[in-house]
Amino acid sequence: MSMDIHNDDDWRLWREEWGIRPDTTYLNHGSFGPTPRRVRECQWQWQQKLASQPMDFFVRHLEPAWLAARERLARFVDTDAANLVFMENATAAMNVVAHSFPLGKNDEVLLTDHEYGAVMRIWQRACRNAGAGEPQVAKLPSRFESAEQVVEAIFAAANERTRLLVVSHITSPTAVILPVCAICHEARRRSIAVCIDGPHAPAQVPLAIDELGCDYYAASLHKWVSAPIGSGFLYVAPPRQHLLQPTSLSWGRLLPARPALWWEEFVWPGTRDPSAYLATSSAFDLLQEVGLEVFRARTHALASYAREQVVHLTGLQPPTPVGAAWYGSMASMPLPPGDAKGLQQALWQQYRIEVPVIEHNGQRSIRVSCHLYTNRADIDRLVEALGTLL
Ligand SMILES: Cc1ncc(COP(=O)(O)O)c(C=O)c1O
Repeated sequence: MSMDIHNDDDWRLWREEWGIRPDTTYLNHGSFGPTPRRVRECQWQWQQKLASQPMDFFVRHLEPAWLAARERLARFVDTDAANLVFMENATAAMNVVAHSFPLGKNDEVLLTDHEYGAVMRIWQRACRNAGAGEPQVAKLPSRFESAEQVVEAIFAAANERTRLLVVSHITSPTAVILPVCAICHEARRRSIAVCIDGPHAPAQVPLAIDELGCDYYAASLHKWVSAPIGSGFLYVAPPRQHLLQPTSLSWGRLLPARPALWWEEFVWPGTRDPSAYLATSSAFDLLQEVGLEVFRARTHALASYAREQVVHLTGLQPPTPVGAAWYGSMASMPLPPGDAKGLQQALWQQYRIEVPVIEHNGQRSIRVSCHLYTNRADIDRLVEALGTLL
C-alpha cells in the first residue's frame, strides 16, 4: 500500500506497532527509542532459546547468530562485516575507542561544542590518563549556512598536535546533521584521525560508512533503528583495527577458540544476554518493510511541522535553514530564556508530554523527535501546552 506521508490515518497501524503507553505523548525518541512489538517478540524468542538450554545456546548457536546479525548490520551501514562489532550502546563504543587510541603527552583531541556531555567526559579522562592536555573544543557557528562554514569552524581549532577529532554525525543538544563526509575529507588531508559519534544517524539519515572514510564510528541501534535497548555497534577502519582493545577483557570467543582477529575479542564479553544484538535484524526488517526513504520522508515532514508550529509560536528562528540537509526526524527550536528543567518537568507533570528542553550555550531550546508512531496531533498537543506554559 502506498502511504501518504502527510496523512496520519495511513500511519495508524504503525503507531499501534509501538504500543506507547496511552497516557503519554512521546516526543523523545532521540534519547530513548521505544521498541516496537515485533522486535520485542524477536528478542524474547532469543531469550527463550537462551534460558531453556544455555549450554546449547552459548556453545553452538551464539556465534553463528552473532555473525549473521553482524552481516545484516554491515549491509545496513554499508561496510564489511569484519570492520564491525556489536556494542551495548554508543557510550560503550566510544569508551573502547578512548581506551585504545594511542595518545602521547603532546597530543591533542579536538571535539566540538555540540558534543554529547558523556562523550566529552570520556575524552577528558582519556586525555588526563595519557598525560595529554585538556581536549580542545571547536565552536560551531551560531547560524549554520553551509558545509564549508562548518568544516572551517572545526579546523580553525586544530593544530599540528591534533591527533583525533571526535564529532557527532547528528548533534544531541541541537539536532543538526553535520557534514561528516566533508569533515572526514579535511581531516584526512591533515592526517587527523576521526571518530564519529553517530547514535542518531542510523535510519534517520543514509549511512555509508566506507564512503565517509572515518577511522571510527560509534552508534546505538536503540535510537532511530528501534532495535532493542542495549544494542549498538563500533566500526573500526582496517588500519586502526590492530590497536583495538576491549575495555573489559574476556576470552574473546568461546573456548577453545583463541582470538586472532580484532573483532573476535568482542564476541564473548563474559556471560551475558546477547538477545538485543541478535534481534537487531528484526528492526532492520521493519524499516525495510516501511521503506527507508518513506520512513525518512514521513518523519522529516513531522519534524518540519513541529519546527513550523514552534517557530510560529515563539517567533524565534532555529540555527539551521529549513530542509533535510540540516535535520532529519528530529528538530530543535529555540525558546525564550527561562528554566529549561522546569519547563520539561511541567510538560510531563501537567500534560504527560515527554520532550527534552535543553540549555546549551546559553540558549534554551526544545528538541522534538518524530518516529513512525508520531502524528500531528502529538505535535499540536505540545504546541498548545507550550502556548500556555511559555
Ligand atoms: C550524540 C550522542 N552521543 C552519544 C549518546 C549516548 O548514547 P547511548 O546512551 O545510547 O550510549 C547520545 C545519547 O543521546 C547522543 O545523543
